[in-house]
Amino acid sequence: MNIEDLRKQAKEEIAQTETPEKLEELRIKYLGRKGALATFLAEIPELPNQKDRKKAGILINEVKKEIETYLQSKDKGLREETVQAASSSHFDVSEPGFPAGLGTSHPLTQFREFVRDTFANLGFEEVSAPHMESDEYNFALLNIPPDHPSRDLWDTLYLEDGKLLRTHTSNMQVREMKKRNPPIRVMTFDRCFRYENIDPKHSHTFSQFEVLYIDENVSMGHLRALSDIFLKKVFGEKTQTRFRPKYYPFVEPGLGVDALCPFCQGRGCKVCGMVGWFEIAGAGLVHPQVLKNGGIDPEKYSGLAWGFGPERMLMIKAGIDDIRYFNSGDLRFLKQF
Ligand code: PHE
Repeated sequence: MNIEDLRKQAKEEIAQTETPEKLEELRIKYLGRKGALATFLAEIPELPNQKDRKKAGILINEVKKEIETYLQSKDKGLREETVQAASSSHFDVSEPGFPAGLGTSHPLTQFREFVRDTFANLGFEEVSAPHMESDEYNFALLNIPPDHPSRDLWDTLYLEDGKLLRTHTSNMQVREMKKRNPPIRVMTFDRCFRYENIDPKHSHTFSQFEVLYIDENVSMGHLRALSDIFLKKVFGEKTQTRFRPKYYPFVEPGLGVDALCPFCQGRGCKVCGMVGWFEIAGAGLVHPQVLKNGGIDPEKYSGLAWGFGPERMLMIKAGIDDIRYFNSGDLRFLKQF
C-alpha cells in the first residue's frame, strides 16, 4: 500500500468509528510506535537518493498531521454526541448528583423496639405465630366456637384452604401453652387483619402486641402492675390507668384497660372525645378452659393475657389523627419520627 492509499483508508476508517474505544484502536493502528506510519518512516533510509528521502519524510509527516486532525475532530464529535444523547433524555451529565438522604426506621418499628426492650427487661421472651391461621387457634380453642356471636367482633378474610387471616395475636396463646411448661412468659408484636372498611380509625391490616404470663398464683395484681409500668413508660409518670369490665371469651374476668388522656389529664377534650380516658388495651385472666385447651392444669396454674394496638397507642401518644398514615409510605409523615 502506498502512502496515499493509507491516507484515504485512515480517513475513511476514522469517519466510520462509533465509539471512543474503536477510535483509540485506530490511533494505535496508524500512529502507534509499531503503526502504519512508523513502518513507512522506517523505510525512508532505504530510498536511494537524498532528495526522495527528504520528500518522503515531508509527505509522511503531512499524512501524520492529517490523521491526527481526523482523530481529534472525531473524538470531539463522539463526545458531543454522548452529551447530546444524555441531554435529550433531560439528563444533564454535568450536574451534581442528588445527596443521598439517610433513612430512618418506620415509627412502628421504633415503637416495636421500645416495647420489646421494656418487656424483655420484665422477663418476657419474644415469639411469633402464623398470620395465616387455622380456625382452631384463632377462634375455637379460645372459646369462640363456630356460630358464637362474638365472632362478629373479629370478622376476617377466609382463605381457600380453610385457613383465615388471623384477627389478633391471641392465636399465639394456645400454641405457646402446648409448646412450653409453666412458668410461661412470652410476648409477640406483629400484624393482624380484619374485614374492615378503611377509615381514619380502622384498617384491614394493623399490628397488635400481646403478652401471656402463666404461673402459679398469677393474679389481677400482676395485670395491674404490668399495665401501670408499661403505660407510665409510654405516656409518662403522671399517667393513670383504670380497669373496666369487658367481655372477651378467652379471659375471665375480662378487662378494658384505659389510660388517662395525656392531652387534658382527664378533664375531657377533643382528642379523647370529652371522655377523659382512652381505651388502650384488652386484658384478663386466661379462661380455665383455654388453659385446658393448651394442656395446662387450671387447678394449679393461672395466667394473664394483655394486648393492645400499637398504631392506636402511637396515635394517642403522638397526636396522629389517621391510621392510614402508617401504611401510606408518605415521607412527610415518616420523616417526623
Ligand atoms: N385479642 C383481643 C382483641 O383482638 C385483645 C385481648 C388480648 C384481650 C389479650 C384480652 C387478652 O381484641
